[in-house]
Amino acid sequence: MTLKRTHNCGELTQNETDKEVILNGWVDTRRDLGGVIFIDLRDRYGVTQIVFSPQDNEDAHAKADQLRAEFVVGVKGYVRKRDTENINPNIPTGEVEVRVQKLHIYSKANTPPFEVKDDVKANEDIRLKHRYLDLRRPSMQNNLMLRSKVYQSVRSYYYNHDFAEIETPVLMRSTPEGARDYLVPSRVNPGKFFALPQSPQTYKQLLMVSGMDRYFQIVKCFRDEDLRADRQPEFTQIDVEMSFVDEEDVYASTEGMITKVLKDTVDLDVEAPFKRISYQEAIETYGSDKPDTRFDLKFVDFSDIVKDSEFRIFAKTVADGGAVAGFVVPGYGSLGRGVMDKLTKRAQDEIGAGGLIYIKNNEDELYSSVGKFVSEEMTQKMVEKAGAEKGDLILIFAGSKPTVFHQLGELRLMIAKEYDLIDTSKNHLLWVTDFPLLEYDPDDGRYYAMHHPFTSPHPDDLDLLESEPEKARARAYDLVMNGSEIGGGSIRIHDQDTQQKMFRALGIEDDEAREKFGFLLDAFDYGAPPHGGIALGLDRLVMLLAGVKSLRDVIAFPKNQRAQSLMDNCPNFVDDQQLKELHIQLRPGVGAEDEKS
Ligand code: AMO
Repeated sequence: MTLKRTHNCGELTQNETDKEVILNGWVDTRRDLGGVIFIDLRDRYGVTQIVFSPQDNEDAHAKADQLRAEFVVGVKGYVRKRDTENINPNIPTGEVEVRVQKLHIYSKANTPPFEVKDDVKANEDIRLKHRYLDLRRPSMQNNLMLRSKVYQSVRSYYYNHDFAEIETPVLMRSTPEGARDYLVPSRVNPGKFFALPQSPQTYKQLLMVSGMDRYFQIVKCFRDEDLRADRQPEFTQIDVEMSFVDEEDVYASTEGMITKVLKDTVDLDVEAPFKRISYQEAIETYGSDKPDTRFDLKFVDFSDIVKDSEFRIFAKTVADGGAVAGFVVPGYGSLGRGVMDKLTKRAQDEIGAGGLIYIKNNEDELYSSVGKFVSEEMTQKMVEKAGAEKGDLILIFAGSKPTVFHQLGELRLMIAKEYDLIDTSKNHLLWVTDFPLLEYDPDDGRYYAMHHPFTSPHPDDLDLLESEPEKARARAYDLVMNGSEIGGGSIRIHDQDTQQKMFRALGIEDDEAREKFGFLLDAFDYGAPPHGGIALGLDRLVMLLAGVKSLRDVIAFPKNQRAQSLMDNCPNFVDDQQLKELHIQLRPGVGAEDEKS
């Protein structure tokens, strides 16, 4: 390095006027004005205007003629105040410029495939292919810096609360947790595979059996599942486990960590303890187990009022055990017929609802879309139960439970977005508690653990495991922020008997359980403390703090929607020799040769 920097590109102010300085960085923009060359020089810290003029230095000025966007340079020169009319109040260095005496070009750059600036126009595939350029954009650098601050804040919280940071293996035995495993073949153990961890769940429980008492880890997890904007195949968890605790301890320590992270990283104050809501209440009030509570639109159940209605859909739905429910949209009673027809069509097409029923409680008229079949008196009762004011709209679905609640939940979000009812300046954190232990999969004809098979059943519901498994509650909880699930955890089973009962409820035979989880069951027989924990999705948390919509914007090198990395072009075929060493033969029709032909 011939020009070692004295300052970065974000720090020079009037205080350094007339000082000799050296800056290093990338050429952001270049302007030529009357023989003088102006460059914005960029690095992670900001942008500084540098000026090449023949009056200051002829050599440097002549050399500067070569400079193009993204060249990497070092400059030596003097800090000068800008003329008043050239001051840029929007950036910290906006009052000064550096008049260059010496220029060193460290490297030239090809014309980039897209402009390195925040309002980039290029499509995401091109940005991902040249991720190193994409990451030069200030917004991406800010996101990564925010992420780095989150690591620091999380670590300092847990270190200060007696947690030990312990690494768990990346090559492990498969732990079924709902998604598919990524497998890694073993060369030295022919035909055998490791799995990459979907989470370190079993290890952290074993660490509790080992007496480590309080563990945390910022850890990569891998899940081969269908991707969405808030899911990556490779993601990061803040993973936590504690011994001799119940739910309250996990809530308190997690709240401590989250409030610290929000304060440290984005200077946000949130109040703890966070609100809590049971799973059942969340479904029946918001139609979601991760409700966005920054806006109301809470559900009202009209089933009682309409059960004897002459309107068949109402009466039959209630008689069949379903629900007629809806919510008030304050102030939207004046929406016209055309708008309501469009909304109905969207409810049918996008949400799968049978139809949309609505009441407009206007000053001049109480209108019901099913007014022909439902008495005005009944409609009035519905308005009263909903607490609708004059000028309000009530949207209603009728159908079987819990489908009708889920559909209303989607409608609630659709309306909130459409009419801009979400106060995005607010941050709402919420515990969702008392999840069901199991969920039935009619396709497979068996129960699956709603959280994972190591989650403790509610002590009052142990007997239900055999009689009515679907009614059993779990000691499981999720942490929800602004309608996004940012964490989940549970109090665990810590004895062999209950664990075996759980496996049986899941239809996992004793032999199979022993085969897959013998190591954990054995461990429980050597003195297991009661324990519990949680894992937070670090990427999702950073995504919310950064105010961006995709996990890809807060991960340095993410995968795209097809679980591929376009930059280094993987996954990819490997040499036959490599496969041979791994004792793997591809099925005919799958492989590099087949793709060519
Ligand atoms: P769970 O499966 O709920 O629990 O995961 C915990 C949190 O991890 C985040 N998350 C993801 N983030 C990005 N991409 C994904 N594909 C993805 N999948 C999950 C979510 C989620 O809330 N072992 C248990 C935790 C425990 O019981 O302690 C577990 O992994 O924010």
